Amino acid sequence: MIALGADHGGVLIKDAIKKYLDSEKIAYKDFGTFDEESIDYAPIAAQVAHSIINGEAERGILCCGTGIGMSIAANKVKGIRASVCTNAFCAEMTRRHNNSNILCLGGRVIDEKQAVELAKIYIETEFEGGRHQRRIDEIAAIERGEL
Ligand code: RB5
Repeated sequence: MIALGADHGGVLIKDAIKKYLDSEKIAYKDFGTFDEESIDYAPIAAQVAHSIINGEAERGILCCGTGIGMSIAANKVKGIRASVCTNAFCAEMTRRHNNSNILCLGGRVIDEKQAVELAKIYIETEFEGGRHQRRIDEIAAIERGEL
């Protein structure tokens, strides 16, 4: 299951991604927002991040104006590796190398077609493991205060 979230700056690309997920019959849960009225991004990022850590969702997609606020907020949750991506290469590599569990997109940076393209790549790409697992383990060590 994919957890979705957006603020007013990202709601339109979130809705485009939802249409894509519907067309592919990919399960998702939408944590809002649902319109373009101004809303703070951090509480939405927190809900999506917690849904991943508690096992409800496998991965998340968070959309705001730039993707940056969402990523900063989501990355405060232990175990979250949220990545802002603006192109296909980054969307692929952050899955292959970083085992990213939240894709962050900017509705004022990319258009709806690009958002769907990056979401598709992100969902379809698997983690490579190997030396990259060691590097992720090192990130977890930072969270534990060991590095
Ligand atoms: C909202 O205006 C905007 O600051 C937000 O969507 C996001 O871009 C923050 O990083």
